[in-house]
Order: sequence, then C-alpha cells, then structure tokens
Amino acid sequence: MSITILGIESSCDDTSAAVIRNREVLSNVIANQKVHEEYGGVVPELASRAHQQNIIPVVDTALKKAGIGKAELDAIAFTRGPGLLGSLLVGTSFAKSFALALNIPIIEVDHLKAHILAHFLINENQKQSPEFPFICLTVSGGHTQIVQVNSPSDMKILGKTIDDAAGEAFDKAAKIMGLPYPGGPHIDRLAKEGNPLAFKFPEPRIKEYDYSFSGLKTSFLYFLRDRLKENDRFIEENMADLAASIQHTIIVTLLKKLEKAVKSTRIKQIAVAGGVSANSGLRNSLQQLADSNGWKLFLPPFEFTTDNAAMIAIAGHFKYLDKEFASQDIAPYSKSSFR
Ligand code: KG4
Ligand code: ZN
Repeated sequence: MSITILGIESSCDDTSAAVIRNREVLSNVIANQKVHEEYGGVVPELASRAHQQNIIPVVDTALKKAGIGKAELDAIAFTRGPGLLGSLLVGTSFAKSFALALNIPIIEVDHLKAHILAHFLINENQKQSPEFPFICLTVSGGHTQIVQVNSPSDMKILGKTIDDAAGEAFDKAAKIMGLPYPGGPHIDRLAKEGNPLAFKFPEPRIKEYDYSFSGLKTSFLYFLRDRLKENDRFIEENMADLAASIQHTIIVTLLKKLEKAVKSTRIKQIAVAGGVSANSGLRNSLQQLADSNGWKLFLPPFEFTTDNAAMIAIAGHFKYLDKEFASQDIAPYSKSSFR
C-alpha cells in the first residue's frame, strides 16, 4: 500500500510543506522569514503574517516538486504545537480547510516528536534509520531533551532543560557578541577557526540527566563586561576563540548528561535531532563519543535538522498507520505535554 502525506510546519519562523510517499521524501520546501533578522529574534506578529503570505505558494511548490496532484494525497499532517500560537494557527487552519476540500483526514503532530521521527525519512542523504529502542538527544531553539524512543508513539523523556534550551544558549551568546539572529550557525562557523580552550566558562551542576543553560549566558555576559572594561575591542579581537569556547562548553555539557543517560539504559543506538544537531562541533564530538563507547550513531542530514515539514509528514505517516486522525475542531497548543 502506498501512503502519500502532505506535511505542514508553521510553528516558528519557517513556513514549510513537504510531500512524502511511504517514508520517501518527494519534496520538502522551506520559506525562511528574513523579517526577524533586524530584531535579533522572532517577532510573533510578523511571523504569523509572513506564514499567511507564504503558505499557499509553499504548498503549491511542494506538490509541484513532488510531481503529484492534490487528489493523490491520502492525508494532511500539521504541527499542532508547541510553538507560537499565531504561527501555528496559520498551518492548522490551512491543513483543516485543504483537507475538508479534498475530503481526506488530518493528522496532528507534536513538533518535538517529529524532530526525532525525522530519522525515519528516506532520501539520497539518509538511507538508514535507528532501530527501537534508541536514545535521542533533541537540541533545538526551544527545547533540549534526552528521550528514550521505544516506538513512534512511545517516547519517554529521561532528561530535559530546566530553563534555556541549547539553541537559545547559542543564540544568546551570539547576540551578546553582536552576531545576527539566529546565532547558532555563526558561532559554528567562527568556532572552526578558534581555540575551544581559550576561555573557560562554568558548567552547570544539575541533577541526573537534566540541563540548565541560563547561567552560562549570564557568566558569558559578565565575563565580556569585565574584559571590555580593559579593552573595548575585546570581542572583535577574540571572535573565533570566544565562539569556540562557548560552543565547547555547550557541547561538553550536552554530552556528559547524554553519556550518563545512555549508560543507565544500556541502549547502544543513539540519535541526535533538532536545529543544534547541525552544529559541526557537536557532530564531531558525538562521533568520537560513539566510537569510544561502541554506540551506533545516527546523525541526520542537514535538511532534516532544522525545522522542516518532511519531519511532520513522517510523524503523520506513523499515525496514519494507526488511523489516528484529528477532528476538524482541533486547536493548536503553545506548550507540549511532551516535556
Ligand atoms: O529545530 P530548530 O530549527 O527550531 C526549533 O524548533 O527551535 O532549531 C533552531 C535552533 C536555533 O537556536 C539555531 O541557532 C540553532 O538551532 N542552530 C544551530 C546551528 N544551526 C541551527 N546551532 C548551532 N550550530 C548550528 N550549526
Ligand atoms: Zn524545531
């Protein structure tokens, strides 16, 4: 049986639509919103307006690129949350009305679970998927979680951040350094030229497998304030070393807890998901850790790390198999119950 699903993602500042057939990606179109750059962060009202402008052309392009007509769709999967309510409403309302017109079911998807299930998509850059159960480190702009994934519908959170997410730590450090939003990719690029041990920042002390990143931002801020008093060009002169050192601290923090959680479960299949999993330093360190511990590591291709609709479609695919459809009166949520 072939199942063709249209996925729609609009939880934050990317409007995305994708078509998958079974697990194969036929198209995955993303419209980024440039309007937020000058504000140093996402402006919710501008995001929902941009989603409204983008949604129809993005879906149209996704169908065209997939080479299918709308009558061939079996269901529409959409991000119900978590995210910005105004943004989520655009995707949710579009999914409902399009499905109503086509007389096909809608499937609600949790964005965080979708990041994890992106590992089951198939395209030219991803041919293999983890076997259940596996452990997934989800690191995005809004969330940081260590999850034990027993099946597409059975996921258990082993650890999580109690304040900022790893992506936020990257973005806030970048903002302090005067880099554009989102800062994560800029830190990644600069860190390649810098010394990760040039500056030392304190690692948080949090119980078990949980994380905390808000203290790092504060200590980075105070550290720079003191150095700038002595030399007002301190940031410009130490850009690469600062980026490498802050990135190193975030990575070491992430991996220590992951290693601890993995040891306690004895599961050897490890995956990483979410926007921060695009970070080259994190990917290298994870690979080294996996090699020395005998883990089988799954690093998603870049197109499935940051927000995209193919991951929403694959999460929808699994729910389609279980006939888990949503009703037309469904509303989005800003906070996930999966946290
Ligand atoms: O998963 P995602 O696209 O959106 C959320 O669901 O939050 O993650 C976005 C986050 C941002 O904080 C961004 O700075 C970070 O992922 N990010 C990176 C890199 N690429 C994206 N952080 C570090 N290094 C990167 N290469
Ligand atoms: Zn995301």
